[in-house]
Amino acid sequence: MARIAYVNGMYVPRMLAAVHIEDRGYNFADGIYEVVCIRNGKLVDEERHALRLERSLRELRIAPPMGRKALSLVMRELMRRNRVANGILYLQISRGVARREHAFPNPAVPSSLVMTISPMKLPTPESLRTGVSVITIPDIRWKRRDIKSVSLLPNILGKQQAKEAGAYEAWMVDEEGMVTEGTSSNAWIVTKAGALVTRKADEMILNGITRLAVLDAVAEGTLTFEERAFTVAEAREAREAFLTSTTSFVKPIVTLDGKPVGEGTVGPVVESLVRSYFRHIANQP
Ligand SMILES: Cc1ncc(COP(=O)(O)O)c(C=O)c1O
Repeated sequence: MARIAYVNGMYVPRMLAAVHIEDRGYNFADGIYEVVCIRNGKLVDEERHALRLERSLRELRIAPPMGRKALSLVMRELMRRNRVANGILYLQISRGVARREHAFPNPAVPSSLVMTISPMKLPTPESLRTGVSVITIPDIRWKRRDIKSVSLLPNILGKQQAKEAGAYEAWMVDEEGMVTEGTSSNAWIVTKAGALVTRKADEMILNGITRLAVLDAVAEGTLTFEERAFTVAEAREAREAFLTSTTSFVKPIVTLDGKPVGEGTVGPVVESLVRSYFRHIANQP
């Protein structure tokens, strides 16, 4: 079956879908994006993704191409046309097409909206029983990582470095030696003392939607939780470590920079958070 993309008001065969060469997303990475998980025909945490999308647009002063309700209808129509029950919806909005000039187009031009859907085998509770390896690298990004910008060069270079090191992810480390986040995921540890720790969501990290779902589960439980930055040294001594993202869900980490985390096996805290996360995604409206 032909896959269908949505490009600026039109549903087109994905093979033929294209944007203008002077789209500011293409020329300047002047745009934002969202990745939403589709599970059993439902969009996971749609409302939170919509809120983050609107926030990213506001912060960059990009006009929303349509209202929230219309956007939701397009998402559903694209799911229907692609008949994908499990996979990923990718949505990108740029400041539009204009002659290449750094300042915003004046008068403003319509924002561009592109949406695609890709089938994907989603993680299962069984697949998440195998932990992954992570390396640490310097965080060389700009200082507005809270905006889900399509400008991802440092993340791309970091992920490639991880791949070449045989690792699944790279945790980026700020100038104070504190872990910020992964190149496409949020970072968590369970300290030697048993506290669950993840960095506060300020301008230095992206506030992951999966992170928020895990925080909800934590708020309902009895775990000791600290929302703060942690050092690489603390992570190396941690009992457990894991990462969270829309495509990875809640993924245990068993080695950090080539050394085992805790016993080098999947620990009880991450195991229980994986279970909570599956309950959460099973309960989507
Ligand atoms: C830099 C970064 N941090 C965190 C995340 C996790 O966010 P989410 O849980 O919304 O997928 C992502 C996801 O792509 C990311 O790119």
